[in-house]
Amino acid sequence: MSQPISSHFPFKPHFIEVLGSRLHYVDTGPVDGSDDVVLFLHGNPTSSYLWRNIIPHVASGARCIAPDLIGFGKSDKPDIAYRFEDHVRYIDGFIEALGLARVTLVIHDWGSAIGLNWARRHSERVNGIAMMEFIAPVPAWSDWPEPLQPVFKAFRTAGSGEDLVIGQNIFIEKVLPGAVVRGLTEAEMAHYRAPFIEPATRKPMLAFPRQLPIAGEPADVVAAAEAYMAWLARSEVPKLLFWGSPGVLVTPALAARHAQDFPNLHSVDIGPALHYLQEDCPDLIGTTIASWLRERRLSAH
Ligand code: BEZ
Repeated sequence: MSQPISSHFPFKPHFIEVLGSRLHYVDTGPVDGSDDVVLFLHGNPTSSYLWRNIIPHVASGARCIAPDLIGFGKSDKPDIAYRFEDHVRYIDGFIEALGLARVTLVIHDWGSAIGLNWARRHSERVNGIAMMEFIAPVPAWSDWPEPLQPVFKAFRTAGSGEDLVIGQNIFIEKVLPGAVVRGLTEAEMAHYRAPFIEPATRKPMLAFPRQLPIAGEPADVVAAAEAYMAWLARSEVPKLLFWGSPGVLVTPALAARHAQDFPNLHSVDIGPALHYLQEDCPDLIGTTIASWLRERRLSAH
C-alpha cells in the first residue's frame, strides 16, 4: 500500500572527511558484511533528502548510503569551481573512504553523470544500476525541452545566470517545485532551501546547468557522457530505468530507445512525472528497487 509522501527526514547524520572537506551522508540498513551496498546519488539542487521516502523500502534488505554532493545538503561548501570533475573527485574519494567494494547505484540527474562515470571506470565493482532522469549528451538546443530552453540558456549566460540562480534563487524556488507534478509542501521547500539561504552558498547550483552536455559544450562533460553512454550500451550489468510522462530528460520516446540500446534493462513506467520522480512516486520506485535487489540476490544463490 502507498504511504503518504512524508516531508520528514528520519536518518541520523554521518560525516566523513574527503579532500579536506566534510561530506554528510545517510547510512542505514543492515551492515552484514555483504558487499552489495546501495549507493544513492542525487542531482541539482537536491540532496540525500530527495531519497527520504525511497530508502526505507530498500533499507529493509540492504545497507543504503546516500551522500550529499560537495556544496549540497549538509556537506561542506569549499571555494572550488564545482565542475563535474570536482564532483567526480569527491565521490571517488567518498567511495574509497567508506571502503565500498561493490555497489548498486541508484542515480538521478547529475548524480547519474557522476555515478555512470564511476561505473564505467569501475565496472567490476558494479552490481546493478537503477537510474531515472539521467544526463545524456543533448545533440542540439532544439533537443532540449522547448519550455526550458530560455531559462537554461539564461543560466549559461554570464550575468543572467548569476542573477537568476545566485540572486533570485530560481533553481530552488521555481525549477525544483515546477518539476514535481504534485508541487512541494512548505515543509519540503524549507528542507530544500536550508543549504542555500545565503546567496554566497548558491554557486554549486549555477555550475551544474552551465555544464549540461548540450550542443557539444562543455567538451569535457560531453566526452565523459559519450563514454558512459557507450559503456551502458555494451555492459551486461543489470539495469532498471524509471521514467514518467512527460518526463524532462528521459521522455517516453527516449525511454523506449534506451530499452532497445542498453542490454539487461528493465523499464518501469511510473506514470505522470517531470524531473524529480522521487517526489511524485517514491513508493513505487522504492518497492521496485527492493524487489529487484531481492530477485538478484535469490538468483545469485
Ligand atoms: C538539471 O539540473 O539537469 C535539470 C533540472 C530540472 C529540470 C531539468 C533538468
